[in-house]
Amino acid sequence: MQKYRSDFPILNRIINGKLLVYFDNAATSQMPLFVFEKMKEFEFNRRANVHRGVHTLSEEASVMYEQARKTVSDFILANDPSEIVFVRNATEAINLAAYAWGRKNINKNDIILTSEVEHHSNLIPWQILAKEKECTLTFIPVNEEGKLDFQKIHPDWSKVKLVAIGHAFNVLGTINDITKIVKNIKKECKKSGSKSPRFLVDGAQSVPHIPVNVKKFGIDFFAFSGHKMCGPMGIGVLWVNRNIFGEMSEFLTGGGMIDRVSLLESGFAKPPERFEAGTPNVTGAVGLAAACEYLTGIGMENIRKHEVELTSYALRKLRGLKNVTIYGPAKAEDRTGLISFNINGIHPHDAASILDSEGIAVRSGQHCVMPWHVNNKINATIRASFYLYNTADEVDRLISGLEKSVKMLI
Ligand SMILES: Cc1ncc(COP(=O)(O)O)c(C=O)c1O
Repeated sequence: MQKYRSDFPILNRIINGKLLVYFDNAATSQMPLFVFEKMKEFEFNRRANVHRGVHTLSEEASVMYEQARKTVSDFILANDPSEIVFVRNATEAINLAAYAWGRKNINKNDIILTSEVEHHSNLIPWQILAKEKECTLTFIPVNEEGKLDFQKIHPDWSKVKLVAIGHAFNVLGTINDITKIVKNIKKECKKSGSKSPRFLVDGAQSVPHIPVNVKKFGIDFFAFSGHKMCGPMGIGVLWVNRNIFGEMSEFLTGGGMIDRVSLLESGFAKPPERFEAGTPNVTGAVGLAAACEYLTGIGMENIRKHEVELTSYALRKLRGLKNVTIYGPAKAEDRTGLISFNINGIHPHDAASILDSEGIAVRSGQHCVMPWHVNNKINATIRASFYLYNTADEVDRLISGLEKSVKMLI
């Protein structure tokens, strides 16, 4: 993997006199030149609005936008490109599902099943919907190891209308076996004589790191962001199983999502355009497609293998430090390449500041998962998150930086 480092100019940056170690990939990953060049080519040679003009540039831009949809569709093995709705990010994707599907299909006393360790983006849209519809949110707990524990919940399955869970948790790293979870829930529902609920999976932390096949999951919605997978900021995807579009009503409305308009009423374009009102982020879509091409070129299996090795090494090294608590699954194979931890007696922000003085970027805080931190009486955590370009030498620098923090602060 070392050879790919030169694709990322930012990795040459000197921060506080030291070569950058970038371990904040779960928040936002870095962009390779390949992706930037594809976006530059679009901006400098083909920039025009899509689907609205007959002139050459508009036609070229439209072709590139639709090609981007196809590339992204292939990357997650969707049934067909029309299942890819371009949005700004995973947060907007989940909100789109909540507003366009949830508002129409969730009713009073229904249950939305989610977990107690979701990113706020996969919690707050459901809280708001639950308030509006007077329905119930039921939370699947996680066990000591950060794995979902279905034994502890006994919902009335006939009332469960939506299951909204993360494919990989951004604070614990846990990878959930979505295919198995969906199968088991469908079985429970069948036993109780009720229809299967709909499933939304938050893939923000999985798509960048592990091969994903949305068709295999048996789900209905899948959300992710471009900026965590070598792509640009401001572009994300809601994948919608094509059989579900008919259950959705319009969300954002206006230009680009209609096929006929009179002063008093309108007819709407077919999906996915129906859910992409206004001028889309064409450069972003081109960049996201380039990121998919880039990752495919390296091979998602190779990226996964590298991250498992690096995470396993980092777990071993971290466990060698005194007074360290590591959260999430014990085995690297059960998690993505991120580790949240604490060192007794050191505030995560202090450790992160000392690491920054060593040129090492980690995240400290609650990582948009406040309920899990509060419920477990954890003030904050330090999170180191890896990607394809990170190395064992960089992990060694993290460990040295943490040793320095211990010397300075305890
Ligand atoms: C699991 C998870 N879901 C959703 C999001 C939200 O992503 P975005 O800010 O790109 O919308 C994040 C971002 O950290 C995340 O980790």
